[in-house]
Amino acid sequence: MGQPIACVILAAGAGTRMKSDLPKVLHPVCGQASLEYLLRAAATLKARRTIVVAGHGLDEVRAFVAKRAEVVKQVPPRGTGHALLQAKPALRGFDGWIVVMCGDAPLIRPSTLEKIVSAAVQGRADGILLSFRPKDPKGYGRIVRRTDGTVLEIVEELSASSAQKALQEVNSGVYAFKGSRVFGILEKLSPDPQKNEIYLTDAVGVMAQKGKFLALQCEDPQEAMGINSRKDLAEATAAMKRRILERHMDAGVTIVDPATTFIEEGVGIGRDTVIYPNTVIEGPCEIGRKCQIGPFAHIRPGCRIDDEAVIGNFVEVVRSRVGAKVQVKHLTYLGDASVGEGANIGAGTITANFDGRRKHSTVIGRRARIGSGTIFVAPVRVGDEALTGAGSVLTGGTKVPPRAAVAGIPARLMVKRKKNR
Ligand code: UD1
Ligand code: MG
Repeated sequence: MGQPIACVILAAGAGTRMKSDLPKVLHPVCGQASLEYLLRAAATLKARRTIVVAGHGLDEVRAFVAKRAEVVKQVPPRGTGHALLQAKPALRGFDGWIVVMCGDAPLIRPSTLEKIVSAAVQGRADGILLSFRPKDPKGYGRIVRRTDGTVLEIVEELSASSAQKALQEVNSGVYAFKGSRVFGILEKLSPDPQKNEIYLTDAVGVMAQKGKFLALQCEDPQEAMGINSRKDLAEATAAMKRRILERHMDAGVTIVDPATTFIEEGVGIGRDTVIYPNTVIEGPCEIGRKCQIGPFAHIRPGCRIDDEAVIGNFVEVVRSRVGAKVQVKHLTYLGDASVGEGANIGAGTITANFDGRRKHSTVIGRRARIGSGTIFVAPVRVGDEALTGAGSVLTGGTKVPPRAAVAGIPARLMVKRKKNR
């Protein structure tokens, strides 16, 4: 859209109500830290600079962010205005739009952020905030508008009169400020007497007095939701989950029962794949077209499942490659495995991939037929079109030649077969 943008993510709050050792912004929401979504939003906006203001759990936040943004310190946290002020040195010389968001509000859509910046540009405003109408406005800053619709001020719950408390439109804590004038204003503000904090909302009031400040109301109030407690975390996860499932359905994936299906961020699924109830798919992972997954399947990170594969009841797959048309229909664990195209994995097959110290791999050839209850004590290799008898145990280092049949405990070569029946 042409406007240079810098993003500031406020993430220094203590997050006391989470009752957690983990910094609040690092709690996962559908498999990704809350903060991750905001870093991605900044990337989508092609932010020239991204600054994370951190305090509580600074080292962990720094390690998480790594090189993707500049982390500035705010210790102790002295309010949202004070938090933004910490980004001033990092934004020296920047003269575009400063988009401020909260690290604990991962549901904000990049398209909404783009919308507020364009609305501010079009309205020739000095700043804009994203407002919303929650079911219960309690605890939020209320938006007081002038008769012409521009913002007059934001009144925090603690200092609101009862008439102001009745206002239903509230501040989401997401803003865009034109240029760096906001810093000069913040520097002159005195702390709010009630909480002894410097409020970013007071800077909005000053800007609204001197210039033009707008509020754009968010259509989907959930986008503005912040995570303050474990209950909020569950609610945000449910909302994010719904969004992820809808994205897959829009792309041509059948999800038979969205209520019992959990798919994390970072999962790719091809068209005409059907996901049956009670399935959990963690990312990153890639699933091809026309697959059948579940019911009761658990696909964990690092899997690639090719077209038309069937992963059925009570099957767990992790860090594995499953070839096209492979059938793994019942009660199986595949870990660190590679299964060639068209192989059939019998019920109750287990890869014993962990020897107590290291993980080892199991390689199963194309069109191999694995008998029910086979145990692969990895590392194991099974050639193309080979066969294992029901209940075989293939001990560590076993290599089954192509088209061979093995059986027993430990599995012995029975016969070298000509062709798969
Ligand atoms: C703030 C707004 C309120 C708005 C609400 C939306 C102010 C004064 N009030 O209130 O109008 O309705 O958000 O959720 O801004 N943070 C820091 N350092 C600090 C304090 C906060 O980085 O010193 C961060 C927090 O980690 C959080 C965000 O800023 O990500 C908001 O802080 P929070 O304390 O939750 O503000 P609220 O009181 O909810
Ligand atoms: Mg809050």
